[in-house]
Amino acid sequence: MANGERAIQFAIREDNREHQFKQVWVEELDDVFSDVARYYDRANHVASLGLWNYFRKRFLSTIDVQSGQRVLDVCAGTNAIGIALLKKQPNLEIHAMDRSKAMQEVGYKLACKLGMHIDSTIGDVHTLPFPDNHFDVVTLQYASRHLRIMDVCREIKRVLKPGGHFYHCDMLRPANKFVEWSYYAYLRFCLNFTSLLFRSSASTRGCKEYFINALRMFYSADEFSDLLRDVGFEEVSSQTLLGGMIGYHTAMKPLST
Ligand SMILES: C[S@@+](CC[C@H](N)C(=O)[O-])C[C@H]1O[C@@H](n2cnc3c(N)ncnc32)[C@H](O)[C@@H]1O
Repeated sequence: MANGERAIQFAIREDNREHQFKQVWVEELDDVFSDVARYYDRANHVASLGLWNYFRKRFLSTIDVQSGQRVLDVCAGTNAIGIALLKKQPNLEIHAMDRSKAMQEVGYKLACKLGMHIDSTIGDVHTLPFPDNHFDVVTLQYASRHLRIMDVCREIKRVLKPGGHFYHCDMLRPANKFVEWSYYAYLRFCLNFTSLLFRSSASTRGCKEYFINALRMFYSADEFSDLLRDVGFEEVSSQTLLGGMIGYHTAMKPLST
């Protein structure tokens, strides 16, 4: 597919995703994560059958950070990535941004317990309140399905220094139809089970189908690589787990633009 045609296809898909989910993104997700904050990490351990830490370690193994670097974790939630990066390299300046105060409060307490400092910004990541060419590294884990991801990737590219790296991890839409179908069936079971186990609020229970539909309309690993290239990143590479259910992407902002 020619570059221009591909850009139009992505724009249409992003418009469709926004059209379908805007109400949830704008009006409901904040309530969901206010509820989920108190059991987010425990629920993920249960839903992943104990593989949650392994998935995160896999992501961390793709991330290269050097002493003194400035890092932004977009949609940082409970600061799992910021904390793990500081364990790997204590001399980092870490900034976390998320719209959910409740998730960041949990993240703040977790970081404090370990004597770590993570600078927190509360806000919508579609506009990053940071200057151009500011960060050496930007990370984004498990949130892209809730965003107009192409716009956020453009913002990420803007705030990265030339030669800086973007590291992405998320649940992706498996390219194989049978894997995709099994994945949604398992997720539906998990969402029902964890919402009972952790006594989820009515708003969280009301969003169960959204979580599946958001994945259904999201990108496969190869499509996400193309999206990153379309935004203007270079050296895009990807790895997948479990038949493409989880994907890890690495991309670099070009040295000259
Ligand atoms: C599934 S959690 C992931 C948290 C964390 N990155 C992790 O890996 O554990 C998704 C996070 O994205 C945040 N989020 C969703 N939409 C957002 C937006 N438009 N702006 C900022 N944060 C957003 C939510 O508040 C939530 O904390």
